[in-house]
Amino acid sequence: MALVTTKEMFKKAYEGGYAIGAFNINNMEIIQAITEAAAEEKSPVILQVSAGARKYAKHAYLMALAKAAVEDSGVDFALHLDHGADFEVCKSCIDGGFTSVMIDGSHHSFEDNIALTKKVVEYAHARGVVVEGELGVLAGVEDDIAAENSSYTKPEEVEEFVTRTGVDSLAISIGTSHGAYKFTAKQCTRNEHGVLVPPPLRFDILEEVGKRLPGFPIVLHGASSVAHECVSEINALGGKLPDAVGIPEEQLRRAAKMAVCKINIDSDIRLAMTAGIRRVLAEKPEAFDPREYLKVARAEVKKMVAHKIVNVLGSKNTL
Ligand code: G3H
Ligand code: 13P
Ligand code: ZN
Repeated sequence: MALVTTKEMFKKAYEGGYAIGAFNINNMEIIQAITEAAAEEKSPVILQVSAGARKYAKHAYLMALAKAAVEDSGVDFALHLDHGADFEVCKSCIDGGFTSVMIDGSHHSFEDNIALTKKVVEYAHARGVVVEGELGVLAGVEDDIAAENSSYTKPEEVEEFVTRTGVDSLAISIGTSHGAYKFTAKQCTRNEHGVLVPPPLRFDILEEVGKRLPGFPIVLHGASSVAHECVSEINALGGKLPDAVGIPEEQLRRAAKMAVCKINIDSDIRLAMTAGIRRVLAEKPEAFDPREYLKVARAEVKKMVAHKIVNVLGSKNTL
């Protein structure tokens, strides 16, 4: 068992009409929750690390924890850099044992994005590491991008980008967005219970991209569903997450049956953990042993990841 690249995972996922969950890791409890769920559901998963996660937990700790998860679960995982901003951070992760990196050149011009991505691909491929690129810009709080600055991927650009860079997978923008506030209330309608319903994803763009790149793995960022029940529980227990809204699960399932082979989920982990911790502290105000609330938080994340594997990604029993 080992940390592996996404090559085989994506090939099987594309052919099987399902997607691999890429879950953001920041500490031991999150890593245990994701990998235990994956082992129990017999599903591959990608553990992904943002620049913020590397700053918070440090590369060496996350690396050691990911390796420990492989050993403990007996499952192969991919270890991926999420939103690599420049060549240096990608190089540092490649040299430091990651099996996959993302170079996010989506804020650059088309030509600069190609040049930067190609440079990372050359370095990565020479060392057996795979690379995810991005075309099109998502809206989202983590990226400090206002919704008005987001732009959908132009299908007519994808073949040239993939051919000239040599990337192994491509993240595209079809209406998903980072964080727990993916859309403003104004952009949504409300259902009969007053819950916000977001505008649908641009499946026409995904379909066109799929036609132009047959067999090629597509990635969706900003794909948390921001479950209403979870947000309601947090708010009922003293939280303040007004009008949080995500991507409906059935739309993600539909995308996973198409060319989408990797679906990124971070906000849903944060929400599941927060709900668990708030519940313990509300029910047991005398609790102060971190293990008491982190144990529940870990169980909540595990439940959420298992739910995604079965109902959203469709990757159960594919190991
Ligand atoms: O896309 C961004 C991920 O949710 C990571 O967020 O930079 O706060 O760790 P972060
Ligand atoms: P969410 O904020 O929707 O979970 O997206 C996470 C992501 O895209 C990480 O790269
Ligand atoms: Zn992302």
